[in-house]
Amino acid sequence: MSVAIYPGSFDPITYGHLDIVERAARVFDRVVLAVLQNPRKAALFGEAERVEVIGRAIAEELPADVAGRVSIVRFDGLTVDAARRHGAEFVVRGLRAVSDFETELQMAHFNQKLAPEIDTVFFMTALEHGYLSSSLVKEIARFGGDVSAMVPPGVAARLRASDERGPRL
Ligand code: PNS
Repeated sequence: MSVAIYPGSFDPITYGHLDIVERAARVFDRVVLAVLQNPRKAALFGEAERVEVIGRAIAEELPADVAGRVSIVRFDGLTVDAARRHGAEFVVRGLRAVSDFETELQMAHFNQKLAPEIDTVFFMTALEHGYLSSSLVKEIARFGGDVSAMVPPGVAARLRASDERGPRL
């Protein structure tokens, strides 16, 4: 059985992430979406909130046969350690543009050095989602812009609510 881990901050999850999850779940038997509290980035949503929102988005937005093969976990520490814990031989990441490539290649190389048995597989982001980034979605929402084409409804609602209660820094 092939297992892939899809690590990320997902703060918040966007339609771009969901597209990657769906395509990865058509290639691998199981996809473990792993939510990191990234110490280098101030998160708007707490991990528990992100996991809840992601679970709902996957159930509502993806076909049932695909959603059934995706699990969601939280993790701290190294991606490769989380991969080993969950029996994943592959790390999945999405690439939007050449600008992503340099950082992603470096991460893939580090991960390869740390865990040679784990391979990184890149999915090219779908054309219609190429412009999406969680940071810009948060910025647009903060200034009252419409993010309904960028994130699932549950996320858009949370973004509106978080705007009312102020940023979590
Ligand atoms: O959504 P992001 O913030 O682009 O995801 C980055 C992530 C979570 C994939 C990366 O920061 C990561 O793997 N962090 C875990 C720590 C780790 O393993 N670092 C070494 C990888 S080079």
